[in-house]
Amino acid sequence: MSADHAASCPPEGARPDWTIDQHWDGYTPAEHQVWITLYERQAALLPGRACDEFLRGLKALDLHGDGIPDFRQLNARLNALTGWTVVAVPGLVPDEVFFEHLANRRFPAGRFIRRPEQLDYLEEPDIFHDVFGHVPMLTNPTFADYMKAYGEGGLRALRLGRLHNLARLYWYTVEFGLMQTSDGLRIYGAGIVSSHGETVFSLEAPSPNRLGFELLRVMRTPYRIDDFQQAYFVLPSLQRLLDDTLQDFAPIYEQLGRLPDIAIDAITPQDEVFTRGSQAYAKAHASEATA
Ligand code: PHE
Ligand code: FE
Repeated sequence: MSADHAASCPPEGARPDWTIDQHWDGYTPAEHQVWITLYERQAALLPGRACDEFLRGLKALDLHGDGIPDFRQLNARLNALTGWTVVAVPGLVPDEVFFEHLANRRFPAGRFIRRPEQLDYLEEPDIFHDVFGHVPMLTNPTFADYMKAYGEGGLRALRLGRLHNLARLYWYTVEFGLMQTSDGLRIYGAGIVSSHGETVFSLEAPSPNRLGFELLRVMRTPYRIDDFQQAYFVLPSLQRLLDDTLQDFAPIYEQLGRLPDIAIDAITPQDEVFTRGSQAYAKAHASEATA
């Protein structure tokens, strides 16, 4: 995950590309225990809720409940599958650095793990979110290609002044995406699969809208940065995501410059509606930080 508020120089001890050693031997037993607790909770919840591509990835990487994964072992498996590697970073990195890594099939992951009292909520992505949430999908060749293309697209969006629009695409796919399957709606977004609460909320709560994925529509929709989403977008397949994003975005950005945003809870006549949400949860939770 990137953030434009991150400092522009790497912190002391980090390389110019912001990477650090994972220093796996340095994790304490208590830190491994946090991973184990989180892993066990999600492993019990995700079958029948996460998509097959995610669950297969989890298995292929041999991510398990023994403790925090060692990137050296993780990367041997991941790299053989799709050419991706995971690199450790101290925390959020500047947008340009983040996109540069993605464009080279490197996924920047926080080294640190949340404290035991932060199991359900934390402000910065930690190693559980970054590795458990994101890396299983990177074993899927279609998704792996999408993430690389997104990195290149991010560098371009920065130059064109359209990053706020492209960031919404990342948010509503990579972080909070749902997918339609023959068995019903399934999760592929990392922000959901790494969150106990949102795993259930995103699929089962009557509050949020669940709408068919449309590229332009998604890029016009702000998102919640501080709470469960008010809208989720449903892909028919991962291939659709890759196909839609392989087109040249320059004309799309031009259109976006003329079109207003769509309210976060709106349903338009063009939307394919899976769920018309009550928005009861959002109404009951007053703060509304959006981007
Ligand atoms: N095709 C997009 C462009 O021309 C780049 C992109 C690819 C964006 C994949 C998002 C995901 O800018
Ligand atoms: Fe993330």
